[in-house]
Amino acid sequence: MTDTSHQPALDNLLSEDRRFPPTAEFGAQANAHAEMYSWASADRLSFWAEQARNLLTWDTPFTEVLDWSAAPVARWFADGRLNACENAVDRHVREGRGERVALLFEGEPGDTRTLTYADLQREVSRAANAMLALGVGTGDRVAIYLPMIPEAVVAMLACARIGAIHSVVFGGFSAEALRSRIDDAQASLVITADGGYRKGKASALKPAVDEALGGAADALGPLDHGAQSSVHHVLVVRRTGQEVEWTDGRDVWWHEALEAASDQHTPVPVEAEHPLFILYTSGTTGKPKGIFHTTGGYLTQTAFTHLTVFDLKPETDVYWCTADVGWITGHSYVTYGPLVNGATQVIYEGTPDTPHQGRWWEIVQKYRVSILYTAPTAIRTCMKWGEELPAQYDLSSLRVLGSVGEPINPEAWMWYRRVIGDDRTPVVDTWWQTETGAIMISPLPGVTATKPGSAQAPLPGISAEVVDEMAQPVPNGSGGYLVLTEPWPSMLRGIWGDQQRYVDTYWSRFDGMYFAGDGAKKDEDGDIWLLGRVDDVMNVSGHRLSTTEIESALVSHPMVAEAAVVGAQDATTGQAVVAFVILRAEYRDRVDEVGEGADVAAELRAHVTTQIGPIAKPRTILVVAELPKTRSGKIMRRLLRDVAEHRTVGDVTTLADSSVMDQIATGLSSST
Ligand code: PRX
Repeated sequence: MTDTSHQPALDNLLSEDRRFPPTAEFGAQANAHAEMYSWASADRLSFWAEQARNLLTWDTPFTEVLDWSAAPVARWFADGRLNACENAVDRHVREGRGERVALLFEGEPGDTRTLTYADLQREVSRAANAMLALGVGTGDRVAIYLPMIPEAVVAMLACARIGAIHSVVFGGFSAEALRSRIDDAQASLVITADGGYRKGKASALKPAVDEALGGAADALGPLDHGAQSSVHHVLVVRRTGQEVEWTDGRDVWWHEALEAASDQHTPVPVEAEHPLFILYTSGTTGKPKGIFHTTGGYLTQTAFTHLTVFDLKPETDVYWCTADVGWITGHSYVTYGPLVNGATQVIYEGTPDTPHQGRWWEIVQKYRVSILYTAPTAIRTCMKWGEELPAQYDLSSLRVLGSVGEPINPEAWMWYRRVIGDDRTPVVDTWWQTETGAIMISPLPGVTATKPGSAQAPLPGISAEVVDEMAQPVPNGSGGYLVLTEPWPSMLRGIWGDQQRYVDTYWSRFDGMYFAGDGAKKDEDGDIWLLGRVDDVMNVSGHRLSTTEIESALVSHPMVAEAAVVGAQDATTGQAVVAFVILRAEYRDRVDEVGEGADVAAELRAHVTTQIGPIAKPRTILVVAELPKTRSGKIMRRLLRDVAEHRTVGDVTTLADSSVMDQIATGLSSST
């Protein structure tokens, strides 16, 4: 928990002295203003209440702002009632914004679709009626396993419309991962597609659903609860037209169900604390956590942050967040924040380099994108491809650039601003998590003088601190642990089905404070720099992965006796998964005594892909004879990280057998 040895050298980061104050012109038109900080610090609750009243439409206005009596489970605006889909769609139509474009969809093969808010209202109403006809009711769970196509947004909103709770599972996750998520939430409906386009090919999705829902006889073994699947129906969107297996009575085509349904439906008002969605994320154990969010507070903070951090002008901006709806960024900054604010946004199905490496910049040019929100790993990849590529496109429409998901190194930040933003656009580095629901720490464009590489300050209404082991705030110039010291509207309300785990994971390390799991430092100005995770969570290309989950996947292979996984620094993906495995005796002759057995590595990589998904596939698998362990049997990942990052191995005095690291190092050098 307190192993910070892998964090980047702080002193390098803190010598950063470049500053980019807002221009007078930008400041004059900005949605954010400096007084928001003083207002919120003088009266945080009235600040949030005002945002909730101004930004949302309530069926029943709330009178109570925050109830913290059952801490650490907050209740925000609890006696109010509202509907998330009404806020994201219907009210725009009712208030005369129906003809405004909501979604500009660009498929990977180049097909396009434009949906106005009025189109979205009809489509979502049909989907809601279709779901009702399939027996889905308020409070039921619906798993969504779709590519980045408009139906993903429609499906989420249709759930919200009838008070059903969606659980979006990223399309890159495997059948096994999907199955455990469906099972944990006891979902009654799955919404999927035949497939989607990725890297120039139609890539199937439906077979994974069939496999996940198969009975006890299938390859995945019996369901966790030994019972029948909770799923009654599967709604299947036709995207690629590829062949699919069909289970009569269970499977229903999306287009047929929607055609048969009315396009009239009244959103169901729910209590502000009604769960809106569950989203599974990796923790420090093998079992992903079902983070759940509720309605009123979540929508308030996503709308507020989307408006101020990106300076959104809904009438004129074209906004594009490159995240998939399978992640929290896609929930808060594709589906909910932007649509609640009445934004016009691009959604793109595919990869940045299909059919060519200029695809993103071509999209920016084509749609005149003015606000772009992406991850450092994508920026670093574009840096690698060369600045001549973006230079071929007209990017002059861009006026705000955002970054999220992992620490952005100052060089990538500068490149983003200079090459993509023409040295003119503000860059906002936004820190937050699946658990926080919305942006927490970020500069405000038009207000903050930005610093390359720093997320800088908590937003108005947010209380964050960097503390030492004893929970005391560190002085400027020092590092420690990032904590949140007051409840915030979009905070998670718990872990689905396991509230004790919620308390243990986030609230037990520091009394009365939410521990984020990140290391951070305050510079001489008191600005916050995020330094990466301090627990067994890795961050690969901005995606959160658990070392334990990958280790469990590896040891579930019959060849593997033991496995240890570490996140090694990687110039493009931030971190990369490196696995050390000990083979069972009967398989040892498949590799040299110690070394990287290519076929073993390939087989294990494929196994992790099946168990979790391609994103969790180790970059490197090293077969070793021993793992470094303390006398109490704890694997010393710090030492393995040294090996993976080609550093001199650190202090080995606490190892039970101090010669183990020599064996590993010798084995590796002789095998390469
Ligand atoms: O380590 C932090 C990192 O991503 C983690 C949260 O991951 P996830 O829940 O998947 O959400 C990602 C998108 C919000 C954090 O604990 N992280 C996120 N944003 C930043 C970041 N690290 C540094 N700088 C950021 N801006």
